[in-house]
Amino acid sequence: MNSFKIAVLAGDGIGPEVMVEAVKVLRQAGRKFDFSLELTEAPVGWAGFDAAGKALPDATLDLCRKSDAILFGSVGLPDRDPTVPKEQRPERAALLRIRKEFGLYANLRPVKLPKALAHACPLAADRQGDGIDILVLRELTGGIYFGQPKKTEDLGGGNQRATDTLVYTTGEIERIAHVGFKAARLRRKKLTSIDKANVLENGILWREVVTRVGREYPDVALEHMFVDNGAMQLMLRPTQFDVLLCENMFGDILSDEAAALAGSLGMLPSASLGATRQEKTFGFYEPAGGSAPDIAGKNIANPIAQILSTALMLRYSFGLQAAADGIEKAVSKAIEAGCRTGDIYNPRETGARKMGTREMGDAIVAAL
Ligand code: IPM
Ligand code: MG
Repeated sequence: MNSFKIAVLAGDGIGPEVMVEAVKVLRQAGRKFDFSLELTEAPVGWAGFDAAGKALPDATLDLCRKSDAILFGSVGLPDRDPTVPKEQRPERAALLRIRKEFGLYANLRPVKLPKALAHACPLAADRQGDGIDILVLRELTGGIYFGQPKKTEDLGGGNQRATDTLVYTTGEIERIAHVGFKAARLRRKKLTSIDKANVLENGILWREVVTRVGREYPDVALEHMFVDNGAMQLMLRPTQFDVLLCENMFGDILSDEAAALAGSLGMLPSASLGATRQEKTFGFYEPAGGSAPDIAGKNIANPIAQILSTALMLRYSFGLQAAADGIEKAVSKAIEAGCRTGDIYNPRETGARKMGTREMGDAIVAAL
């Protein structure tokens, strides 16, 4: 029987409560599909501060290094931000640090609007076509998030200057483009590359490199789109998109926009992958939404993004296709049976039942 080591980092806000549901589902999948998991929990984010005085405690980072994958909840509590310098805050010191440390350059955010949730999509039914199914592929370790210099200088007289640097190399663009074309091959064979080539040097290079890589994938239709137009097209005609290839910040923005089309950010899982070594792909799996402190601890958060993230982990890091499909089908079944957390509930919908985080988790375990 296969056995996998997973670092479970629930973090802050709704992280812990949605993680409980994801672990329940994962254990059930293990029983059903006959694999075993060694799950080890460790603190991260403000929970890391409370346990060990920093957002990414050494012991937590150590555990990550010894694991086959990281299952992550969410970090960040804006109320506590003023208590530490910005470099030490969880977003930078834990999340961005882990992305960089483990070279997790490819971030996959599959956006899918289930038919049963058509009402939760902000677009009119005629714009939803046969359903929305987009893979947002976001470059995750480059661009303006990490470029140097990154600083705020005092110019005197109350005047400050903030600098962030947008920088990409050919190699960084090539490797994410390959991931994009390969992903498109397994889907509807269309790749839309997002850039701002009409203004940015980075956009020009991005377009050139993606075009060149695309020649190796003649079976995939490649199109280029400026990011502002892309944002608009997502609202007007989202069904035109298959894979959306984005640099770091454009991907951050467009993936939230796309998530809204799928009914709720609470439905969007993500996988962050690095290089494959000895046929193993180390991965980091997290819901794309944040810690949502306003609804934390109330048993109302939607656990589906966290649960679907476990499915991505089984698929991409462990090669357990059947188990991954099983979890995704169980989620669909629960939704089709009318299970709804508040974010996807519409009182006018017949047969829908509003339920809490735990009840949704139970329903998905039962469906599995
Ligand atoms: C995301 C988040 C993060 C990002 C934040 C929390 C730093 O918005 O994963 O999309 O900007 O990458
Ligand atoms: Mg984001």
